[in-house]
Amino acid sequence: MQPVIAAIDFGTSNSTVGIMQGGQPVLLQPETGKRAVPTALFFPHGKTTPIPGFAAIQAYLGEDPGRFMRGLKGVLGTDLFNESTQIGTQPVTFREIIASYIGWLVKTAEAELGHPVTHLMLGRPVHFLTNQPEADAIAESQLREVVATLGIPHVAFMAEPLAAAYHYEHTLKQEELALIIDIGGGTADFSLLRLGPKLKDKADRTTDILATHGLRLGGAMIDQAFAMAHVMPTFGRGTEIAGPTGPKGLTVPEGYFTQLTTWHRIHRMYERKTLQEVGGVLQEALEPRKVERLVTLLEERGGHKLMLDIEGAKITLSDAAEALLNLGWIERDLTLPLTAEALASATQNWRNTLTDSIRHTLAQANTTAEHLTTVFVTGGPSAMPLVQATIRNALPQSNIILGDQLTSVGTGLVLAAHRHFA
Ligand SMILES: Nc1ncnc2c1ncn2[C@@H]1O[C@H](COP(=O)(O)OP(=O)(O)OP(=O)(O)O)[C@@H](O)[C@H]1O
Ligand SMILES: [Mg+2]
Repeated sequence: MQPVIAAIDFGTSNSTVGIMQGGQPVLLQPETGKRAVPTALFFPHGKTTPIPGFAAIQAYLGEDPGRFMRGLKGVLGTDLFNESTQIGTQPVTFREIIASYIGWLVKTAEAELGHPVTHLMLGRPVHFLTNQPEADAIAESQLREVVATLGIPHVAFMAEPLAAAYHYEHTLKQEELALIIDIGGGTADFSLLRLGPKLKDKADRTTDILATHGLRLGGAMIDQAFAMAHVMPTFGRGTEIAGPTGPKGLTVPEGYFTQLTTWHRIHRMYERKTLQEVGGVLQEALEPRKVERLVTLLEERGGHKLMLDIEGAKITLSDAAEALLNLGWIERDLTLPLTAEALASATQNWRNTLTDSIRHTLAQANTTAEHLTTVFVTGGPSAMPLVQATIRNALPQSNIILGDQLTSVGTGLVLAAHRHFA
């Protein structure tokens, strides 16, 4: 029997599903006209079957009652995967939730292929978590469990930057030494490899892969750094609270703001226990108006909306000097001007880490920038002028090519799937 093959890029922010059609890799459109769909789910109140993709974001922003989820990939490699979370009155495990999302993408492929998928190629970051190599095997086995739940007998994995590399390689007329940089929502992944028309059909590419490196450094961390520095102070971050004997330099707990800016942890801030605790902090707050905003944010279950708006402001600031964050839903007429300058300063560490990672990848392969033929850059944050400038500063002499930000990995996975399974 012929294998029925599909490839999925399960991304932190966006995902793709692709198949081969007429000898060409094609990314399918599970909804609307786009080939990459948000990795988001919305469970309407009282239901345990979620709405996936753009529709999930629309339902959440349309203020339908229910539970919104994004950043699910961040659960992989951690204990959270096996834990359950309360959806209405029902406990549902993250395993089931991730299976339902990936299952939706698989069904999209099956509708096009006309048969159940038997062979699935899944992308994976080089490392799921920073400096925790032991988490990689765990995360991969968790994904295997998910695929088994879906009844797909064969699964293979490919590092996301390698997939992007193979997509790029398809366009080459001669051999190159290429550094591939894929900066996504959750991770930044690097690979340095020899690519070329004569190499692309080799069964084993091990000797062409000169270095691979990856860490948790994605667009979500840009949003988090930006939010922590320039938005959370409006909600009381860094403001003082009085102890039982008066002010002692204590501040509103930092953990509240870290959770509120970490996608897969936001919902924890809505728990009744937390609300009570924040209510207590409000009693002691030296700047109660700000902490009141925090209370309103939690009561409105608006943490996800706030992070979506901050992400939107970040994207606007790619082309504009200023973006206005409308917080009128928290406090009448409240707006917060955010500037490109503020974004640049908040992301200084993030950008330094990107520079270090590029150097690390070159050093791993015992090479230097002048030996590179090209630098191929993909992933959503690579649209940011700040990110492009960081890469250019690290590699001033290099030929930098910007790939399709949201589809390079997915397309490369389809090519890889057929090379691997067909
Ligand atoms: N025009 C843009 N300007 C700035 N950032 C953008 C732009 N478009 C998308 N992003 C950011 O890119 C990130 C998503 O990128 P992408 O879809 O490549 O990630 P992903 O594949 O889902 O994540 P990962 O590969 O880490 O699992 C988000 O943080 C989003 O805010
Ligand atoms: Mg990605």
